[in-house]
Amino acid sequence: MRIRGLHKAFGDLEVLRGIDITVQRGEVVCVIGPSGSGKSTLLRCVNLLEEPTSGTVAVAGTEVTDPDVDIDQVRRRIGMVFQSFNLFPHLTALENLTLAQRRVLRRPKGEAVRVGRANLERVGLSDKEDAYPAQLSGGQQQRVAIARALSMDPELMLFDEPTSALDPELVGDVLAVMRSLAQEGMTMLVVTHEMSFAREVADRVVFMDGGVIVEEGSAERVVGAPRHERTRAFLARVLDPAAAPPPVPGPPVSGPPVPGPPVPGEVGKG
Ligand SMILES: Nc1ncnc2c1ncn2[C@@H]1O[C@H](COP(=O)(O)OP(=O)(O)O)[C@@H](O)[C@H]1O
Ligand SMILES: [Mg+2]
Repeated sequence: MRIRGLHKAFGDLEVLRGIDITVQRGEVVCVIGPSGSGKSTLLRCVNLLEEPTSGTVAVAGTEVTDPDVDIDQVRRRIGMVFQSFNLFPHLTALENLTLAQRRVLRRPKGEAVRVGRANLERVGLSDKEDAYPAQLSGGQQQRVAIARALSMDPELMLFDEPTSALDPELVGDVLAVMRSLAQEGMTMLVVTHEMSFAREVADRVVFMDGGVIVEEGSAERVVGAPRHERTRAFLARVLDPAAAPPPVPGPPVSGPPVPGPPVPGEVGKG
């Protein structure tokens, strides 16, 4: 996958300001960066859920940003896994896996079921094929979502914070599935805050802030010895939220607690 000079603006808001990333076949690249830095928008531009303002994206030799390209043809080659699992609640795990295979790839039912079962086994959920999403834990739902993407035989897998919505004890099972995919040689672009996963699995780590790539390199280099102050500050917050809370916007609050959303970094403190 090759991204060159990618820009994306929503009205006056420039979210991506010239991104260049190459992911070789079989490579795993992790993207890290603060909330709002444009990570999701970047992934969404790769499979054209968002239309780039300028720049090019090519996947497996096809220029996906070519105006003449068949978008459906592009999307079926790219698997995407979201933070929220996006399973169909009224379909069983196996039915969630066979639907797109049959509708988009026009696979006969028997073949779609066979491929679906093989992928449920790959994510360790062979015994859950008849379960509905509501009967599964978040980690199991996310593994079904991964199996669904794999059932389309993607050439590239995009993951957008796949473990962020999970209870801590369920994160490991999802990361284990992703780790085994990487070992099988899947090409993966992964937005994650799981630094130990990035260090262990990523061939490269890209740190984004404010719509640009601030630095990139091996996980060891970027996570272990960041060169830029912005990277250091971000990593300090992610690796030890209690020790280095993010700057809280606005004047210091005194007096009784003000109702409002929890402040990241304050959670679990005290
Ligand atoms: N569809 C949209 N319309 C307007 N603004 C958007 C849209 N999608 C994202 N943004 C804005 O773009 C910025 C980057 O968002 P996002 O790519 O989701 O960042 P990240 O995933 O790094 O948290 C944010 O300021 C967000 O509010
Ligand atoms: Mg995001």
